[in-house]
Amino acid sequence: MSRAESPPEGLEVLQGSAAKVDLHDDEAPLPRADLLSRVSGCDGVMVTGGDRCDGEFFAAAPKLKVISCCAVGYDNVDLAEATRRRIVVTNTPDVLTDAVADLTWALILSIARRVIEGDRLARSGEWRGWAPTQMRGADVAGKTIGIIGAGRIGTAVAKRAAGFSMRVFTVTRRSTRAELEATLRQSDFVSVHVPLTPETRHLFGEAEFRTMKPTAYFINMARGPVHDEAALVRALREGWIAGAGLDVYEHEPKISPELVRLPNTVLLPHLGSATIETRRRMAILAAENLLAVLDGRPCLNVVNPEVL
Ligand code: GLV
Repeated sequence: MSRAESPPEGLEVLQGSAAKVDLHDDEAPLPRADLLSRVSGCDGVMVTGGDRCDGEFFAAAPKLKVISCCAVGYDNVDLAEATRRRIVVTNTPDVLTDAVADLTWALILSIARRVIEGDRLARSGEWRGWAPTQMRGADVAGKTIGIIGAGRIGTAVAKRAAGFSMRVFTVTRRSTRAELEATLRQSDFVSVHVPLTPETRHLFGEAEFRTMKPTAYFINMARGPVHDEAALVRALREGWIAGAGLDVYEHEPKISPELVRLPNTVLLPHLGSATIETRRRMAILAAENLLAVLDGRPCLNVVNPEVL
């Protein structure tokens, strides 16, 4: 068994089992060559989003029975190939829903109310006192939010929007293109909560950003490739939209240098689920998922149940 980048709580669960544990205990992802050589004898592996589990990975791990993702998203795993090889894939839904929804609101409030810029001014020694037109942002309460993706996290974001007396539009998998466009035209905030799939890759490109209001903000807490980052940069630079709050990037961990330079962005380093309590729950759940599959016990979080 191998394990990557899990907080100690998950490790305790694994060490309490009969399994032999090979731990990669570093914040930096395991270099690809090391990952491939270390999985060669493993029955199970616990991975994070940076660990690509593709044909090459499966070929390097011929004994593999289970991939336990310590994440709700599993786009790093070639699911069709895992299923073809009868490898069970699990994830950690539910336990992170509130943490991700909370941080979505941190981005919404930060970009609309210029929180990061304000913090910088307050610390700079340059602040000369309250002024009527200083650092004015946009109201949040009472505005319209378009939530793209109505799963657990999108729904939790919508619930919080009710507390801000907002009008909420939700776009689901079943929505039509016309419904998406109507939402983009009317929303003051557009917040993305879809999994990354072939259908959602570049769901937001030039046409979608041009459809949004010039006063609207784009929030992506889902997966970077859901937006076309070059188009987003143009949208922000040329004023097609007012700003963006991002936790994820198209070529993560690389961030387009233009996004870094632009004043109308708030950028986080993929922290959606990063609270002590939530990461603890995720690590324990991922470890329990892994052991349940290896022991042949029921597991609620299998994403390819046809393998069982
Ligand atoms: C993190 O991005 C996750 O999918 O849980």
